[in-house]
Amino acid sequence: MAMAPANKTATLHIRRGAPGAAIRYDDFQVPYEEGMSVLDALRWIREHLDSSLAIRYSCVNANACKTCMALVNGEVEYTCTAKLSPDRTIVEPLPKRPLIRDLVTDVIGDDEKL
Ligand code: FES
Repeated sequence: MAMAPANKTATLHIRRGAPGAAIRYDDFQVPYEEGMSVLDALRWIREHLDSSLAIRYSCVNANACKTCMALVNGEVEYTCTAKLSPDRTIVEPLPKRPLIRDLVTDVIGDDEKL
């Protein structure tokens, strides 16, 4: 008799907080499906586990808006195209941009601000 595949769960270890606050990391478990992006998992967390998680994205997976950038396992990635690991993924804000909150950084250059 064939066994149904066990439901897989991926863990995201996410840096949280705002400027001036103590750095902390929260772990979240999300249902894993082959081909999921890191952004898919972040959006799932916001919808099902913690609506206060600050993330930024616009085009979702067209790799056009470039607003979803973050550190994924220590590498600068577009979270919408970075594949989620079925095990554990560390997600942190961009290190060289001013932090706004959680994974959101100020990615607009000073010369582009009004
Ligand atoms: S959400 Fe637009 S490039 Fe990632």
